[in-house]
Amino acid sequence: TQTLRLGIAGLGTVGASVLRMVARRAEALTAATGRTIAVTAVSARDRSRDRGVDLSGLHWFDDPVELARSGEIDVFVELVGGSEGAAKAAVEAALGAGKHVVTANKALLAHHGAALARMAEERGVALAYEASVAGGIPVIKAIREGLSGNAISRVYGILNGTCNYILSRMEAEGLTFEACLKDAQALGYAEADPTFDVEGFDTAHKLAILTSLAFGVEIDAEGVSVEGISAIQPLDLTMADELGYRIKLLGVAQATDEGIEQRVHPTMVPKASAIAQVMGVTNAVTVDADAVGELTLIGPGAGGAATASAVVADITDVAFGLVRPTFGQPVARLAPPRRVEMQRH
Ligand code: NDP
Ligand code: HSE
Repeated sequence: TQTLRLGIAGLGTVGASVLRMVARRAEALTAATGRTIAVTAVSARDRSRDRGVDLSGLHWFDDPVELARSGEIDVFVELVGGSEGAAKAAVEAALGAGKHVVTANKALLAHHGAALARMAEERGVALAYEASVAGGIPVIKAIREGLSGNAISRVYGILNGTCNYILSRMEAEGLTFEACLKDAQALGYAEADPTFDVEGFDTAHKLAILTSLAFGVEIDAEGVSVEGISAIQPLDLTMADELGYRIKLLGVAQATDEGIEQRVHPTMVPKASAIAQVMGVTNAVTVDADAVGELTLIGPGAGGAATASAVVADITDVAFGLVRPTFGQPVARLAPPRRVEMQRH
C-alpha cells in the first residue's frame, strides 16, 4: 500500500498522544483506509525532553517551518499552538508547498482561518481541524456533513474544558479558582497561556469556528462579545446553588434580525437542565436545526487522548482522499458584537 507520510509539529500533550495513537492503531487504520499511515518526521523545541514516545527512526526538525516544507511528508500535522509565530508560519509553508494540513489550533483558525482556507482551496489540499473545537467530540463533521440539509438557527454550549473543570470543582469541592486551574494545567487541559481559557477567548475562538460552519459566515473572532470566568467567586456559585442554578461558561451564536450574534459569558443555568449536568472537562454542543430539531453532543473537551482521537479522524479523511472546502462559502452576515451581562440562558 502507498504510505501516507505524516510530519508532526508539536510533541506536547496532543502531539505525543497522536504519535501513540497512530502507532497503536496502525493496523486498523491501514485496514480502514487502504493506506499505511506512518509518522516520518517531527518537530518540537527541546530535543532532549523525554516525551514517553519512541522517536527513534524519525527525522527531527528544530524548525517546524522546515518540517512543513520537507519533501519527506505528505501531511503536516500542526500541534504547536498560537495564532501567530511558528504555528502560523509553518501552516502557511505547508499549504504553500501543497501539503495537506491537520491542526488542533483554534486560535490560528479563528484569526487567520479565512486566508488559510483560501490558500488550501487554491492548492487543492485539505485544511482539516476537527480537534480545534470541543476536543474529542466530532462536532465539525456533525455540523458540516451531518446537518448539511438543515438551516441552523442557534448553536451554543460549553466549549472550554478547563473552565468547566474549574467551575465544577469549585462548586463540588469548595476549592479555590487558583487550585483548580493548577490541576487543569497539570492534566494538560489548559492552553499554554491559560488566560485564553479563563478569560473566555478560547471559547470565543471555538464559537467563531462553529458560527462559520453553522451559518455560512466568514469566520470572525473579533465579532464575539467575550466575558470569562476569572471574576467568579465561590460566593457566586453558592448563591446560584441556593437559587437552583449552576454557573457555566457558554458560547452562544444565534440568528437575530440584525444578523448572527456571537457571545461568550458565564450563564446561570437551572440545575435540572441537561447542560447543568455537564461537569468536569466534558463539553456539550447544542444545535437548533429546522429539520432535525435540537441536537446535543456531549463528550471530553480536552486532554491528549480525546484530542488525538479527533486529529487521527482528520488524518484518516486525508488518507481516504477527502479534501473538502474548509468552511464553505459565506452566505449570511454577522451582527456587530454587543456587550451582555451574566444572564439566564
Ligand atoms: P503543549 O504546550 O503541550 O505542546 C506544544 C508543543 O509545541 C510542544 O511540544 C513544544 O515543544 C512545541 N513548540 C512550541 N513552540 C514551538 C516552536 N516555536 N517550534 C517548535 N515546536 C514548538 O500544547 P498542547 O499539546 O496542549 O496543544 C497543542 C495544540 O492543540 C494547541 O493549538 C492547543 O490549543 C490545541 N488543543 C489542545 C488541547 C488539549 O487538551 N491540550 C485540546 C484541543 C486542542 P517542547 O515540547 O519542546 O516545548
Ligand atoms: N484549553 C482547551 C480547553 C483545550 O480547556 O478546552 C481544548 O481545546
